[in-house]
Amino acid sequence: MAEKRVDTVRLQRISKAYWETGAMYAAIDLGVFTQIAAGANTIAKLGAAVGIGTLNGERLLDALAGMELVTRDADGTYTNAPDVARFLVEGERSYAGPWMTFMRESWGDWGRLSEVLKEQKTEPLGMYDDLTVESARAYHKATYSIGMGAARKFHREVDLTGRRRIMDLGGGSGAYCIIAARTWPGISAVVLDLPPVVTVAREFIAENGVSDRVTAESCDFTRGPFPSGCDVAIQASNLPIYDRETWTRVVAQVFDALEPGGEYHLIGEMLDDDRMGPIAPAMWGLYEAIPHSIGHAHTIAECIGYLESAGFEEISATEFIPKTLTRVTGRKPG
Ligand SMILES: C[S@@+](CC[C@H](N)C(=O)[O-])C[C@H]1O[C@@H](n2cnc3c(N)ncnc32)[C@H](O)[C@@H]1O
Repeated sequence: MAEKRVDTVRLQRISKAYWETGAMYAAIDLGVFTQIAAGANTIAKLGAAVGIGTLNGERLLDALAGMELVTRDADGTYTNAPDVARFLVEGERSYAGPWMTFMRESWGDWGRLSEVLKEQKTEPLGMYDDLTVESARAYHKATYSIGMGAARKFHREVDLTGRRRIMDLGGGSGAYCIIAARTWPGISAVVLDLPPVVTVAREFIAENGVSDRVTAESCDFTRGPFPSGCDVAIQASNLPIYDRETWTRVVAQVFDALEPGGEYHLIGEMLDDDRMGPIAPAMWGLYEAIPHSIGHAHTIAECIGYLESAGFEEISATEFIPKTLTRVTGRKPG
């Protein structure tokens, strides 16, 4: 049998992948998908609706069709792909535009990554070193736009019946605690995060009408101390920010703080154990070079190891968001 001929197709696509990012960001910024959903679904109508004219409307829609973000019918009308219709049309509850463009400020650094890698600098808190309330507000507008959906999924999959109190370490907008309060009668929760984020978390908590059950407090989770009286600990989407030594220490501190019989959920961007992907956790690890954090990607086996060495039992790993987030769960002996 003839061997498959090696060609340049894959390499050419990767070498210009940032063109696709640019096209997607432009479409989100201009409200293209929102306008298509509202009926501006031909080149001429769309070009007029978003102020780019017919020539650029054609260019952009050709690109978006090539990326399979929209489909074009024989009569020249465009329709959003199902994921675009759900997540990129403003006004939908599931709108995640802020999250999809969240990493835009690192755009320039990706273009000079070889220089960034040679700098070999590390700062303990990485990008979180110079957070202000304003930057935290913009940041968590983005995490909230994706985190509320993730939190709903978490509370559909994890039964917290009978649990009394959650601590959410690096809880950001408080999404996991807000949905917990809506889902589990009688449960209370505390969002622990850095001081500027606490201000923002309190705004989201108030906006969602759960301030009687959910609070937010300042805590650097690499130092503690952690609150007592919690029988659930959640830590979501902050895994690549720190190194193995930090995680070993943090997970041990969580173990000590939890009530006997309590449960811990580490939800993170985890690599397969052979470190051959998936691509998303690997890229989050590589991204950490840009803000000069001490972090990198961790494998599922490494994360299980952090829980084992802390003393957790009944440890399991469950796919949470395919190819992106894995949930490693353990129980403190009762
Ligand atoms: C990507 S966000 C995730 C937020 C939230 N867990 C979610 O899933 O929606 C990461 C969060 O970790 C917080 N964080 C990072 N390092 C921290 C530290 N040392 N102590 C407390 N919070 C930290 C950040 O401030 C940020 O709010």
